[in-house]
Amino acid sequence: MLTLDDIRVSLAGHTVLRGVSFTLPQGATTVLVGRNGAGKTTTLRTIMGLVPLGGGRLTLDGTDLAAQPDHARAGLGIGYAPEDRRMIPAFSVEDNLLLPAVALKMPAGISAERLAMVYELMPELTELKNRPGGSLSGGQGKMVALGRALMVATRAILLDEPFQGLAPALALNYARTLAKVRDARGDLALLVTESSPQLLAGVADRALKIERGEVSETTLDALGH
Ligand SMILES: Nc1ncnc2c1ncn2[C@@H]1O[C@H](COP(=O)(O)OP(=O)(O)O)[C@@H](O)[C@H]1O
Ligand SMILES: [Mg+2]
Repeated sequence: MLTLDDIRVSLAGHTVLRGVSFTLPQGATTVLVGRNGAGKTTTLRTIMGLVPLGGGRLTLDGTDLAAQPDHARAGLGIGYAPEDRRMIPAFSVEDNLLLPAVALKMPAGISAERLAMVYELMPELTELKNRPGGSLSGGQGKMVALGRALMVATRAILLDEPFQGLAPALALNYARTLAKVRDARGDLALLVTESSPQLLAGVADRALKIERGEVSETTLDALGH
């Protein structure tokens, strides 16, 4: 289990996270909802070790994550899809999916197994696999970003505003895919950030609200869904 306990982060002299505490249960999707500037991206970046921890404890199955350098965290099984889906335009979709496996020096047998799992959960990626990354639509790019997070994830997946900019039909499709991932991968804890609760029906098993760097437990109903 991934646990944040009284996490504090300051950036450029401003306090951004003020004692954030929550645990992500395996086999469930937790949504973190808050308006722009509330601290959603910073929360995910803190878990990935991309911003300095100002205080508190961050643990994965009881192991202190703060002691692990940022590049080691994907290797511990945490997949992360940032807001800006960084794909290599000239690489095929399949090679883009394989990038994290290459970066982690994953044994060929394991990366082949995981790629097969990604194609099984997201058949639409099978059809796109030979297309250059640069030729995809925004919605397709989000799917590749999810697939890439799945390539490394054995414990958790962090998705930063994956619904943003998706047309309603694509958002619905993405939500269905997320539900499928959650159901097929009981070993994973999913954390999805979003600024509007509207899109999260059918996705969230549990909702957290973030306001000015403070996180509290809530429900989608309470958020005005
Ligand atoms: N690198 C940075 N330096 C200074 N302030 C930052 C930096 N990144 C984010 N912030 C500030 O931290 C707050 C939270 O930002 P962020 O985590 O990106 O929010 P969200 O993802 O919820 O929109 C904002 O006030 C933002 O201006
Ligand atoms: Mg953000």
